[in-house]
Amino acid sequence: MREVQKPLYHKTKKLFLIANWKSYKTLLLSIKWLQVFTSLELTIKTDEKEVILCVPSLFLSDMKRFIDDNNLPIKLGIQNLSRYGEGAYTGEIHAKQASEFVQYAILGHSERRRYFHETDEDVIEKVQRALEFMIRPILCVSDMKQLDYYLSIGSVIADNADEIIFVYEPPGAISGGGDFHPETPSVANEQAGEIGKKIGQPIVTLYGGSINAENAQSFFSMEHISGGLIGQASLNANSFTQIIESS
Ligand code: PGA
Repeated sequence: MREVQKPLYHKTKKLFLIANWKSYKTLLLSIKWLQVFTSLELTIKTDEKEVILCVPSLFLSDMKRFIDDNNLPIKLGIQNLSRYGEGAYTGEIHAKQASEFVQYAILGHSERRRYFHETDEDVIEKVQRALEFMIRPILCVSDMKQLDYYLSIGSVIADNADEIIFVYEPPGAISGGGDFHPETPSVANEQAGEIGKKIGQPIVTLYGGSINAENAQSFFSMEHISGGLIGQASLNANSFTQIIESS
């Protein structure tokens, strides 16, 4: 007897190419990146590809001006958000402030957990804050145990799954600014599919970890992977452009 096909909880057709600049660059270098990107005169069909730059918060205002003035097909994202709203929280940027500049926020990145002791509960609060101000969360998932825990804390993720961009990003695959050592595309695809099954409805799932111009296509052609979160290879406008073009 033929096995009954399980429903496929998979991606939309649109590809999301998300640069994570982490704590790199100065304002001058950020604008230079945009100048190089502009000079490459890339044609991006925005209904097929969403290009998002998640840059250091200090540069958002100037970068937004440059992008608007030059009509570039680029959206901006922030790399973190406060779990609180407006108030006496020294050094924090809350969602309402960020929403003046960005449409996306990377939340729950493993580097924030590792170096800043961010907890799952913090991440869920941040997802909630982002959604309140129409910022689309780019939610990093290190493994299935973490996703199970997220889902057990409350219903924020399940209730808003269609607004969230899920990224399967195993910490061991992140380049950390050094060599590239990605997950294999088939394992990444399997895990991305697993996220979809656990959520139980159509979602957008990406892969992150050591993506570069050489391997990008092998991930993006996978059934459950709708793009990538790209660190090291996004710092150079030429190599990021190659990734956009190759996908
Ligand atoms: P990487 O970083 O592409 O340099 O591995 C990805 C990330 O940490 O989001």
